[in-house]
Amino acid sequence: MNHVLQQADTQAGTMPARKRVFMVDANPNRASKLNVVLNKLYSVHTFSDGGAALEAMEKEPPHLVLIDETTLSTRGQGIYKTKVRDRFHKFIPFIILSNNMEGPLVVKDRDGAPDHYLKRPINANGLLEQISSSLSYSVERSWAKLPKRAQQTLKSTIQDFNKIADAIASGQPLDVKATHNSCRPLVECVQSDEYKIVLDGVRNHHNYTYVHSLRVATYLTVFGNAVGMKENQMQILSAGGLLHDVGKMATPQDILNKPDKLTEEEWIIMKGHVDHSKDILGTMPDVNESIRVIAEQHHEKIDGTGYPLGLKGNQLNELARMAAIVDIFVALTDERSYKPAFSEDKAFSIMETMGTELDQYLVKSFREMVAN
Ligand SMILES: [Fe+2]
Ligand SMILES: [Fe+2]
Repeated sequence: MNHVLQQADTQAGTMPARKRVFMVDANPNRASKLNVVLNKLYSVHTFSDGGAALEAMEKEPPHLVLIDETTLSTRGQGIYKTKVRDRFHKFIPFIILSNNMEGPLVVKDRDGAPDHYLKRPINANGLLEQISSSLSYSVERSWAKLPKRAQQTLKSTIQDFNKIADAIASGQPLDVKATHNSCRPLVECVQSDEYKIVLDGVRNHHNYTYVHSLRVATYLTVFGNAVGMKENQMQILSAGGLLHDVGKMATPQDILNKPDKLTEEEWIIMKGHVDHSKDILGTMPDVNESIRVIAEQHHEKIDGTGYPLGLKGNQLNELARMAAIVDIFVALTDERSYKPAFSEDKAFSIMETMGTELDQYLVKSFREMVAN
């Protein structure tokens, strides 16, 4: 497998392009410490007072503003007032870093992007998760205009995804039944041929693991529908797609979202997402076997060159073969920082050159299905 393909395959669900983040803090030492974390993922512009930041914001708006609370209450008021009052700027999410808050909280929910408080000392992973969630605000807001079933699919799956992330972060067991239920509208969208609206709606969301997982879930369900699966089986397949990379929620954000080539060591950690998924799903007695197999085998290859176990031929379950094909197809047709989004035709010709790694009979049926 060539390098770009290997990276697309495993790093699928990671960040495509750097967003502009403004950091406003009167304390340069504190700002430069956070810059070390943020610079790896975002194009960070640092300002020591709100006036300069406001000027820059009016020239070219950032995707997000990170502002220190004391700077906000002294030299940062102008930028915040502009955010509150201005029709255009009010959709820029603000994250306020505070010394005094009792944990993160949404300040108010008016007709604009909500503000979030994070308490110092700042936990890097928590900050990166909050940035990703804040950046997705306007995308989620735009879902209200979509047809009902597509809207329900997007809302129920992101809610479920956020709950899963919280459960994993706090060491609580997952509620697989909830994931099963959250996928019901997706199955209906596939049956009524509305799934492309779902794929369009999720396109600019900033939780890349969610975007990738929902795209995999959608195409897997379409695949299941095309081969004549019953509704209940399709729902299991959807849930399997949504959960196939669940272990990535235990992968550090700076590796998951690194726009550059991963080091050897980082690759090992990234590939460890399969074992994390196995551990996470393994703690739950009621996980359907198909969901487990999809999560554990989607990076295995028929010729034994996959991971984590290097399974071969008949050792690979049929659903895992389907998931492997869909996973690679979704990664190739998605934009990443190291590659553009490939056309469906190009993705399929790359997958055909992978020969014995994939079940080429299934690749052919998937190609025919996507073409229809
Ligand atoms: Fe994966
Ligand atoms: Fe994946």
